[in-house]
Amino acid sequence: MDSSFILLLGATSLLAALVLSGTRRLKGIPGPLLARWSPIWLFYHARIGQRYLAVHKAHLQYGRMVRISRNQVSINDANAIPVIYGHGAKAFLKSDYYHSFVAGTPSVFSTIDKKDHARKRMLASHAFSIRSLQSLAPFVHDIVLGFATKMDTVADAGEWIDTMKWFNFLAWDVISDLAFGEAIGFVPKASDLVEVLEPSGKTYSEKAIHVVDCREHLASVIGTVPWIRRFSKFVPDPFFVRGQKSATGITLIARERVEKRINSGGVRDDLLDKLISARMKETGSLNDAQITELTAEAVTILIAGSHTAAASTAAILHLLVKEERVYKALMKELLHAFGENEVPTYEQLKDLPYLQATITEGLRFHGTNAIGLPRIVPEGGMVWDGHFIPQGTEVSVPSWTLQHTEEYWGDPFTFRPERWLENPELRKYNLTFGAGSRTCLGKHIVNMEMLLVLSTFLLRYNVELKSPVMKTVERFQHEPEAMVVKITRRCKI
Ligand code: HEM
Repeated sequence: MDSSFILLLGATSLLAALVLSGTRRLKGIPGPLLARWSPIWLFYHARIGQRYLAVHKAHLQYGRMVRISRNQVSINDANAIPVIYGHGAKAFLKSDYYHSFVAGTPSVFSTIDKKDHARKRMLASHAFSIRSLQSLAPFVHDIVLGFATKMDTVADAGEWIDTMKWFNFLAWDVISDLAFGEAIGFVPKASDLVEVLEPSGKTYSEKAIHVVDCREHLASVIGTVPWIRRFSKFVPDPFFVRGQKSATGITLIARERVEKRINSGGVRDDLLDKLISARMKETGSLNDAQITELTAEAVTILIAGSHTAAASTAAILHLLVKEERVYKALMKELLHAFGENEVPTYEQLKDLPYLQATITEGLRFHGTNAIGLPRIVPEGGMVWDGHFIPQGTEVSVPSWTLQHTEEYWGDPFTFRPERWLENPELRKYNLTFGAGSRTCLGKHIVNMEMLLVLSTFLLRYNVELKSPVMKTVERFQHEPEAMVVKITRRCKI
């Protein structure tokens, strides 16, 4: 028998086995044909940056429970949130999806092991506490002040600008300052070009925003088929090549800053200082493994703290300018509390109800976290809606879909901040920051940042949208591709 025939026979048998086992497993749970027996459907939609939309359409077609991959079930049911994203011993583990986000060693975000996560989270808890937030607020205020001065010159030039770019510059300055005690300086130089230092001592230039985009997109695609991670280095597709280079690039950027920070002894009580001190309490001095771990945490902080904040702020601004009623109501609240051109402080802003409701509603509506965050069904399996789901299956609640389901919101496609003032209980249907033991550690920081940035921007400028349509792309987070506006000063002083 010739070898190509044997190969063909083998491949056909494997495919048939996959189809059969895939169809039998999770029997009775509907989903797109390709998704029922392979990860190809999910991989493809992640690759084109529209995963949440494909999952949403699948729910509209097939109902509450949908198979979105051979081994993954998406459950659009708020009652499933405390079950899948629980606390303590009952919490389901993160799935292998998160391996693709590991930078050298697992971070508090990417670790799957429950004990390791509890330790890392405990070590980080002080850094991300409300008390720490209050001490960090004046630094963010200063950076926003500098941003406003820079934006004045941009406004006076009268050109169209991409706020995604500017909010990203700002978010990088904020998070690098909070994390390492020194802003990276993207706003003043109006550029995100950074020098990346290789272990060999050579340097090369990279655009930091693009690095994060490529790294996050690649990780979110590989996460749908985790076993390809080992081979991804050899895939000649530019998407993979660029993504791999970016993953290395962001780790080198973080490592350099961590080492610089450790060697300088630290001058400020910043996030890294708190993460270092927590480790020093464990071992007395820092060892190599801890420095690698700190680098992994720094990568998470840089990525989680930059793009998510920029994307959310740009998306909320877009929604606001489009929805004149909401814009007017918010301006009334802001102008009642502050003068035009003022850069308010966090203390002054934190209790403004309409501003806070607008941010919460914007996050719900846009859905910066749009995907269903995958978890693993534990031993014994689970039963949902009469279906048995065996242990080892990936399950998730589709964040964007849940946040746009009529049953919970009544009018989910209306941007209406008032809903949060009428019924704060709606919080339990909002997966913006995840839920349970793995909920976002940076949510208070980013909330502070958005309060400051949005209020300053609105008090200072009139905003004209270039287009009422905002195209978005989903990497790990869901973000505007661009958000182009023209800004003019409300009042020149
Ligand atoms: C609007 C902005 C943000 C959004 C929408 C967001 C969303 C999320 C979500 C959904 C998770 C849970 C992920 C999962 O379960 O797989 C998460 C986790 C996390 N986020 Fe954020 N995040 C934001 C900003 C930030 C910022 C500014 C930081 C840091 C300064 C941060 C740090 C983290 C960390 C460390 C985790 C891992 C927590 C753990 O597993 O214990 N995030 N975030």
